[in-house]
Amino acid sequence: MTSNRNILVTGGLGFIGSHTVLCLKDAGYTPIIIDNLHNSRIEVLDALESLMGYRPVFVQGDVNDAAVLQGLFEMYRPEAVIHFAAHKAVGESVENPLMYYHNNVVGLISLLEVMKAQGCHKMVFSSSCTVYGEPESVPVKESTVTRPAASPYGATKQMAEVILKDNTWCEVQCLRYFNPVGAHPTAKIGELPLGVPNNLIPFLTQTVAGIREKLTVYGGDYNTADGTCIRDYIHVMDLAEAHVAAIDRLFITQRSVAVEDGDPSTDKFEVFNIGTGVGYSVLEVIAAFESATGEKVNYVVGNRRAGDVVAVWADTKKVNQVLGWSAKRDLSTMMKDAWNWQQRC
Ligand code: UD1
Repeated sequence: MTSNRNILVTGGLGFIGSHTVLCLKDAGYTPIIIDNLHNSRIEVLDALESLMGYRPVFVQGDVNDAAVLQGLFEMYRPEAVIHFAAHKAVGESVENPLMYYHNNVVGLISLLEVMKAQGCHKMVFSSSCTVYGEPESVPVKESTVTRPAASPYGATKQMAEVILKDNTWCEVQCLRYFNPVGAHPTAKIGELPLGVPNNLIPFLTQTVAGIREKLTVYGGDYNTADGTCIRDYIHVMDLAEAHVAAIDRLFITQRSVAVEDGDPSTDKFEVFNIGTGVGYSVLEVIAAFESATGEKVNYVVGNRRAGDVVAVWADTKKVNQVLGWSAKRDLSTMMKDAWNWQQRC
């Protein structure tokens, strides 16, 4: 689809946001970026410029700043918003819940108020598989019952889904991400965690790069085949492409929406699982990294991490059929791209 439509991307210099900006451009959209640089770096803009062939519009600002948002809408008249700007560290959210509710919930409301006032009625929202909590069975479907969140971070995603569903003036594609990893194949952009990484892949690649002494596998006594937790790891480029498919869908005037019992989707608020449909244990990920890169990972199996879900992976039937999207990159590609990126950092 080519359109030249302006799409506002909040958090567009972050990990998933920056890859999505590239995919939007490739699909003929014009991304307009707002990012407060809280957990991202301005150098990402230079990398985007070199990959895109032009410097995308960027405003340093916060979604809680209604005046900045309003100025952006008046100047660029975006026809839809992809809302990435949010905090995402589970542990930090337990230590500082107010910061999470303020940024992730109040920030969303602030954005919606400006969108409504400016007549912009379309949004793709970054939700998370965290809304499922510890699922009763796997793979999880969109209709799988959601459980009380295990952290304030998870609670903000659940609340955001409720807010978006209630605001029926806004058409929403709500994407529940599983575990995004990897980097752009050029290694010009990737994940840039500030400080000590919480997530598995950046910790693993930093360990192999010698920045961390060793990786601790959190728990080897879970009820899984090898005793370690299972997740659905998805390449960030596949995830970015899912956002373009969701934006495309928002511009289809006649969408047919078939909803299974238990799926919260309506004709204005559609939920999709964005994963590969395959779960890998932590030890399988380490083995995949070693065979994809030829590098050894120094690791120990340690204690469980509080709040970890044992096993979760996606049922992707709905997203495959309705959005016409499926993940294409395998675990080996995810590991190679993550390692190439780490070596450039
Ligand atoms: C969690 C959230 C996810 C959120 C993400 C953002 C859940 C179920 N998932 O992902 O929604 O978007 O944080 O940060 O709440 N591990 C180790 N050693 C490490 C780090 C991780 O063994 O040093 C293990 C974890 O126990 C887990 C797996 O690796 O089994 C993935 O962990 P991580 O990358 O932190 O992501 P999640 O906790 O799954």
